Amino acid sequence: MRIGIPKEIKNHEYRVGVTPDGARELVASGHVVSVQTGAGSAIGYADAQYQSAGASVVADAAAAYAGDLIIKVKELQPSEFALTHPGQILYCYHHFAPDPPLLEAMLARQVSCVAYETVTAPDGSLPLLTPMSRIAGRLAPQFGAWGLQMANGGSGVLLGGVPGVAPAKVVVIGGGAVGSSAARIALGMGADVTLLDRSAEKLAHLEEAFGARLKTVISSGSSLPPLVRDADLVIGAVLLPGKRAPRLITVDDVRRMRPGSVIVDVAIDQGGMGETSRPTSHTDPFYLVHGIVHCCVPNMPSAVARSATLALTNATLPHALALANKGLKDAVADDVGLRNGLQVHAGRVTHAALAQDSGRAFAGVLEK
Ligand SMILES: NC(=O)c1ccc[n+]([C@@H]2O[C@H](COP(=O)([O-])OP(=O)(O)OC[C@H]3O[C@@H](n4cnc5c(N)ncnc54)[C@H](O)[C@@H]3O)[C@@H](O)[C@H]2O)c1
Repeated sequence: MRIGIPKEIKNHEYRVGVTPDGARELVASGHVVSVQTGAGSAIGYADAQYQSAGASVVADAAAAYAGDLIIKVKELQPSEFALTHPGQILYCYHHFAPDPPLLEAMLARQVSCVAYETVTAPDGSLPLLTPMSRIAGRLAPQFGAWGLQMANGGSGVLLGGVPGVAPAKVVVIGGGAVGSSAARIALGMGADVTLLDRSAEKLAHLEEAFGARLKTVISSGSSLPPLVRDADLVIGAVLLPGKRAPRLITVDDVRRMRPGSVIVDVAIDQGGMGETSRPTSHTDPFYLVHGIVHCCVPNMPSAVARSATLALTNATLPHALALANKGLKDAVADDVGLRNGLQVHAGRVTHAALAQDSGRAFAGVLEK
């Protein structure tokens, strides 16, 4: 199969779809791999390393997108839509639920979108989302601590406090990969951490892992608002796979928080958990609403793009090989977890939650 690895163009996105070692494995399986020049150069993967792995380096995005299977990181940006062609497989994060124009474009262009964020493992977990979630979760308290600094509009509260001065109150909503990683780092920084999830089982597991220093609370319409309103830092880490994030932090909550408190809405890639959340970027991560600092960067792991690329390729390469070796139809027929990743195919929505969320018909069977 002809495989294309384009250079990412989202703001400060330095990750690359495949490392040179990953490219070597694809080439060894008999595939022709074309990497756009400079795709990995920002994180130390020079064109020459891809060439010595057996890939060719191509001059521009058009040449990279000529492939039958495109392996990349983030969802396509509008300027990339026209580079796609019918029947092509796009294997990357897609995050369609909060982005109807992207979904519309991919349906119209008759591409097959395999979304990292909904590929499942046999236990129902999300193995291609989890590595990036762990990174975003570990970064979230860092972004939060930065937002709390005066120069960013923050309240001037130190996460860990100092002897004689109480630490910051950190509230993490969602106890999955992002939330548990965020809790780990926030506890390590000395903060007073409360984590909410709607799953009692998950909370029990987290309490066992972290001990009594982590306060756990069942998330509900009555437990969540008072904790949010009293927090110095709120970290949004909820996920309903394939669906838009539920808006659990209301404008009223934001109005009642102390000025200079911070919301890091990690779930912004699925539309965000706050009624006042909107995507920001690494260039300009913060904005204020009612005196509350909001940080809603949809590609947080790119801040540590080298580690993130290694973690991502470790997770995505086995499925990339399956897609390339077997073709889409057989690869998804053989692996229900990969089938769960296929969100768009031949102009139809092929993921039940996305169909429900976007008000479109669900195509359960692959017709072509
Ligand atoms: N901004 C970024 O750069 C970035 C990077 C990675 C992941 N993410 C996003 O972070 C979000 C979380 O991802 P994850 O991998 O941790 O998901 P996950 O599935 O591991 O965890 C989500 C958790 O949310 C909980 N949950 C669902 N509804 C809830 C509710 N009403 N109240 C409280 N908890 C609830 C679930 O029980 C689950 O424990 C996703 O939107 C993901 O796409 C963003």
